[in-house]
Amino acid sequence: MTVAVGIDKIGFDTPGLVLDLVSLAKQRGDEPDKYTIGIGQDQQAVVPNYEDVVTMGVNAAQSILTDADRQDLDMLIFATESGVDNSKSAAVFAQQLLDLPVNIRTIELKQACYAGTYGLMQARDYVTLHPDRKVLVIAADIARYGLATPGEVTQGAGAVAMLVAANPRLAVIHDDSVFMSQDTPDFWRPIDRSQALVDGHLSTDVYKAMFAKLWQRYQDQTGLDLNQIDGWAFHLPYTKMAKKALDQVIDQADDRHQDLLKQRLAASQAYSRRVGNTYTASVYMSLLSLLANDDSLQAGDRLGIFSYGSGAEAELFSLSLVPGFEDQGPKTAVNRILDRRQLVSVPEYERIFSSQLLDSTVNSRSAASPRSLRAQFWGWQDGQRLYQVPKDEL
Ligand code: CAA
Repeated sequence: MTVAVGIDKIGFDTPGLVLDLVSLAKQRGDEPDKYTIGIGQDQQAVVPNYEDVVTMGVNAAQSILTDADRQDLDMLIFATESGVDNSKSAAVFAQQLLDLPVNIRTIELKQACYAGTYGLMQARDYVTLHPDRKVLVIAADIARYGLATPGEVTQGAGAVAMLVAANPRLAVIHDDSVFMSQDTPDFWRPIDRSQALVDGHLSTDVYKAMFAKLWQRYQDQTGLDLNQIDGWAFHLPYTKMAKKALDQVIDQADDRHQDLLKQRLAASQAYSRRVGNTYTASVYMSLLSLLANDDSLQAGDRLGIFSYGSGAEAELFSLSLVPGFEDQGPKTAVNRILDRRQLVSVPEYERIFSSQLLDSTVNSRSAASPRSLRAQFWGWQDGQRLYQVPKDEL
């Protein structure tokens, strides 16, 4: 008999600074309703120069890992499209900062916003073969389009860490994936650039088309219909995107089920409205948001997951919540992280945006605080990227 494998624990992190998008709209000469209703974003994470994907990923993982988990780990998979080195993987930096054993595999994965899902599937397959072992999957990204660009309103940053194990306490991942890849010039970032190039309207169209195709293929393959999917977590480049995708098929469900799916879609969008796009982490932040913000979910509910990465690649699969799942979603911890953030003005955000330490040839020090309890990027020294581990481990 095949053992049930899935997400045992899930953790989250985002920087401690936040920008109000009504203020940004006014500064840019746009209607605030375009941002908050038309696009569906209220706030976005602002990334100080002591945060990067490694620090956010480590802080997310730190919140869920126990010493026993560390001993059971065989692999750390780090998915990101905003990596800090063209050669060394973010997973190796994270391994050291998380104090993980030496005898593990560490690897970084890239395919735009999709790579976290590939990592999750690799983890699921590995644990299915080795049910007494665990895999840590970290998805972390910084969405950076540039000041006063059309994509600016959809920026954001964050990380999700998932511990994959046999007999998971949160959700079992079903072996029902459908996927597709198709070379498309909708969004990319050449190796010499720190900001993405994007054809935003094309990317929206490709996302919608891939969801419609994969949903049809999923139904053909599994025999399930929309009434049998109890909620969705979508990749959320901006929250309206999920509505555009689901609207294509929502009338396949009964009226009452349509209402339930809409209610749960709003729950899945709540964190994204406050954080912005987190690329690889986004679809799993959406899952976390659904778990935290909809009290009607029950054990046994089957949730559809739609993962999209520009370029382009997409995967649709489902997972089922297990008894006791309510105790595993870190609702209080996530709300505390979001509520404690410091609001910055538009000029402060613009200054912070331009203060990133992107030049490895100059020895430099970030604005990291020696007293912080978070992992932080400390600065460059002789071309090496230095990190500070939390104070109690110094
Ligand atoms: N009140 C209410 N709504 C308003 C409004 C107002 N005053 N003014 C405009 N709107 C509505 C528009 O009608 C439009 O709604 P619909 O999309 O439903 O038609 C919406 O606000 C956006 O308006 P525009 O299309 O004119 O906005 P834009 O041209 O500035 O671009 C964007 C919006 C394409 C999302 C842009 O922000 C962008 O390029 N973002 C980055 C790319 C992206 O997020 N792509 C998504 C798919 S790609 C992906 O998923 C991978 C990834 O993470 C990048």
